[in-house]
Amino acid sequence: MAEVQETDFVIVGAGVAGLRAAIGLADSGARVLVVTKEALAESNTHYAQGGIAVALTGEQDVALHLEDTVNAGDGLVNRGAARVLVEEGPLRVEELLRWGTDFDRENGRLMLTREGAHSRNRILHAHGDATGAEIARSLLRHARAIPGITLMEWTTTVDLVVEEGAVAGVELLSADGQMHQVRARAVLLASGGAGQVYSDTTNPSVATGDGIAMAWRAGADIADMEFYQFHPTALSLPGVPRFLLSEALRGEGARLRNSRGERFMESCHPLLELAPRDIVARAIAREGMGPGGEQLPVWLDMRHVTAIDPAIRFPGISKFLVAHGLDLRRDLIPVRPAAHYLMGGIRTDLHGRSSVPRLHAAGEAACTGVHGANRLASNSLLEGLVFGARAAEAMQDAPALHAGRAPVPAEPPKNNGDLPEPRERLQRTMWEKAGLLRDAEGLSAACRQLCALKSQIPSSASRQGIETRNLYTIGKMIVASALAREESRGAHYRNDFPHRDDSRFGRHSLLRGEKISFEEL
Ligand code: SIN
Repeated sequence: MAEVQETDFVIVGAGVAGLRAAIGLADSGARVLVVTKEALAESNTHYAQGGIAVALTGEQDVALHLEDTVNAGDGLVNRGAARVLVEEGPLRVEELLRWGTDFDRENGRLMLTREGAHSRNRILHAHGDATGAEIARSLLRHARAIPGITLMEWTTTVDLVVEEGAVAGVELLSADGQMHQVRARAVLLASGGAGQVYSDTTNPSVATGDGIAMAWRAGADIADMEFYQFHPTALSLPGVPRFLLSEALRGEGARLRNSRGERFMESCHPLLELAPRDIVARAIAREGMGPGGEQLPVWLDMRHVTAIDPAIRFPGISKFLVAHGLDLRRDLIPVRPAAHYLMGGIRTDLHGRSSVPRLHAAGEAACTGVHGANRLASNSLLEGLVFGARAAEAMQDAPALHAGRAPVPAEPPKNNGDLPEPRERLQRTMWEKAGLLRDAEGLSAACRQLCALKSQIPSSASRQGIETRNLYTIGKMIVASALAREESRGAHYRNDFPHRDDSRFGRHSLLRGEKISFEEL
């Protein structure tokens, strides 16, 4: 029998959205349990390099940020959500400054850089290229000082507890293999994205789409799963993780060159290397494909940039490259796209409410439509702050806990030697057949291959087994949504439908159970 505990609110995930929501809830006197699978530092937030986009200089700046967000999203941005993001963003960032976030400054003034598809410099950064880690540090320090917040590390959320159609808590698996049930007035899924569904990703190993998969099992609507953003410039060295090479490198002047040394973005987009991310990623993928399908090198070139010292402006990136024998001042750096950010997720309103009562979502796990088909660079940390704070406000409306039912029997976990192999096959299938460039034949093959893998996925209640099952669910959702969207838009590119088709697909894809439709959010 699972041990049963009670709290007011459970938050799954300790990235920027989860921590900001926890602070909001606990400030009102509530007890908040924040659960995370590994150490607190291990979230996508922690790895965010480039920065946080925010319009700090008044109304015109805010209006331009809105237009850039809408334009990058390729006709699918929910304008109401984007307006909330850019209008409330400055308040949330000022709050961070009060809480001690140490953004980079020059002569006392905040430094602002630029990334792809931004019409002006509006990206704050910290310690050069460690913006996410600095924001997480300051949020955590603030959260630790609030007595109502309990931070629980090394704990996997197995599933949501659903009673009479509403969420009533979570089932947790702790590192010692014990199952616990925690009952709560409401649950926030702030569990991030699912980059691990692809073999090539900038995301850490924890990004397995757990929140989205468990929301789907609980009956929540899931939106826009075909829109996976591939970051154009992840390091491409054999045997080395696909380390992120921030778009801010291009913001500071880095150029892209093909195997012949040519600057190919000149023929792709007027904004050259700072075109929207989806366009740059596809251009790199095409330049990197030889006539016989062999892989050709594509390079990031910063050798001509003298206005900054890369070792000072980008200390984390420089250190990683030096450890692999590369120097931004001296060398061409080999790059290729890698899965980076999921625009889709648990469909929510602008207050983080999902379609299931008492279940909320925020940050990358959620889909408000704020990013449309392609997220504007450095809008994700801002999204976590803004919609995490909003979700916390809405969750306070959840009625008090009613007397708990008898504890639900939970299957004791068996760590029965789960094999990495099915997960790796799933990741390769998704990369090869449902990645950057797609078509019906490849997507249908992916569907068949995933179905064939299903029986080999471990059924144990170990963390590995739980994650692989969640990745399977995510993979199926991406493939089904990508097959249904017979057009190309933003991050979703179909070789067999290369144009945008607003009349048939100018809406969001929505998964309800096994059914898919296209609707307004
Ligand atoms: C980067 O630094 O290029 C990543 C920022 C983002 O994902 O928006």
